[in-house]
Amino acid sequence: MREVAIIGVGMTRFGELWNQSLRDIFTEAALKAIDDAGVDHIDSMYIGSMSPGLYVGQEHIGSMLADYLGVTPVPASRVESACASGSVALRQAIFEVASGYSDIVLAGGVEKMNDGEDTTYILATAADQEYEAYFGVTFPGLYAMIARAHMHRYGTTGEQLAAVAVKNHANGYRNPNAQFRMKITKETVLNSTMVADPLHLFDCSPVTDGGAAAIVVPLEMADKLKGQPVKIIATAQASDTIALHSRSDLTTVSSIGKAAEKAYKMAGLTPDKIDLAEVHDCFTIAEICAYEELGFAEKGKGGAAAESGLTALDGKIPVNTSGGLKSKGHPVGATGIAQIAEIVAQLRGEAGERQVKNARIGLTQNMGGSGGSCTVHILEAM
Ligand code: COA
Repeated sequence: MREVAIIGVGMTRFGELWNQSLRDIFTEAALKAIDDAGVDHIDSMYIGSMSPGLYVGQEHIGSMLADYLGVTPVPASRVESACASGSVALRQAIFEVASGYSDIVLAGGVEKMNDGEDTTYILATAADQEYEAYFGVTFPGLYAMIARAHMHRYGTTGEQLAAVAVKNHANGYRNPNAQFRMKITKETVLNSTMVADPLHLFDCSPVTDGGAAAIVVPLEMADKLKGQPVKIIATAQASDTIALHSRSDLTTVSSIGKAAEKAYKMAGLTPDKIDLAEVHDCFTIAEICAYEELGFAEKGKGGAAAESGLTALDGKIPVNTSGGLKSKGHPVGATGIAQIAEIVAQLRGEAGERQVKNARIGLTQNMGGSGGSCTVHILEAM
């Protein structure tokens, strides 16, 4: 297997992009990544997208996006793993380059959620239809059950959940691509509308349009290209039961822990060596569970970790410097690649006002549904 690097990244602004179609959004992100990399062609591409058929009535988007990007006849495929679609697309690109089959592969992600007639229904198709969604449960409802169980078992508080949102909004305020660029307080969260008890509006990621792309090349080629390379030192994926009721412990998202274990082993690292991370905070409780499964906090202490400032921009291990899904936005299929774009920017020293000093090793954690699928990637500055 060859070693691989990311040589270029690009993303659109995240938010309500009423003037751009799905293809416009993807093409903008892809052209930015190609330009950043300084490549004159790509050998193939993978696009993560959760549900373009339900959101905009378009399937077969591999063909459509290759056509619109002007790269036909290169192989182009859509990859789906709910909200983890983007990072699973990245894994296909990594394997294709690492194997020696191709040299320059684009991994992208795109979703146009605001065009969807019923986004709550569309998102719930990533839960267990027969045993969860059919009975009316929604994603805020599923994560509310995880939050309630965490509160019951470990004493996690609403204030601790709110601390995650306050931190991520403070970071997103500094990100020109973020959907919600405003600072908030704990009171903003706690006084906002209750969506699914105990989760308020400001505990939830929003409904977002957006796209992101990354160019993967063999490490040995990276020096000859314009873009500043960042080495991929681990890629890992794991699954868990799709339905919450099949899990022995509601407070443990085991796919995160399993993927993290594999990724740390592949990179030859322990959690204390990670300088910063982008984690999947689709709801504030998800970020708290991620701290615990990634080894940033002890089991049950994730809420206290959020409140202590450990993961703030100037904390020991900054998490979601981009603003995370909460403030930057969560165009589901694009999120995994947008996380990579943030870590690449940080490891290159290009993150502007949100730059973490001396960042050398960055981690991303991206999951689908209530953790039925999860990926972890670790990147190293060069
Ligand atoms: N955080 C903060 N503010 C939000 C918000 C969020 N997540 N979502 C919407 N808003 C704001 C809007 O900007 C708007 O503000 P305004 O009145 O000042 O313009 C207001 O709240 C109402 O917006 P609207 O779009 O009508 O909200 P909604 O009630 O339709 O949707 C949620 C709110 C929480 C239900 C929706 O954002 C949601 O479903 N989020 C979860 C997405 C999800 O499950 N993703 C997959 C995760 S696995």
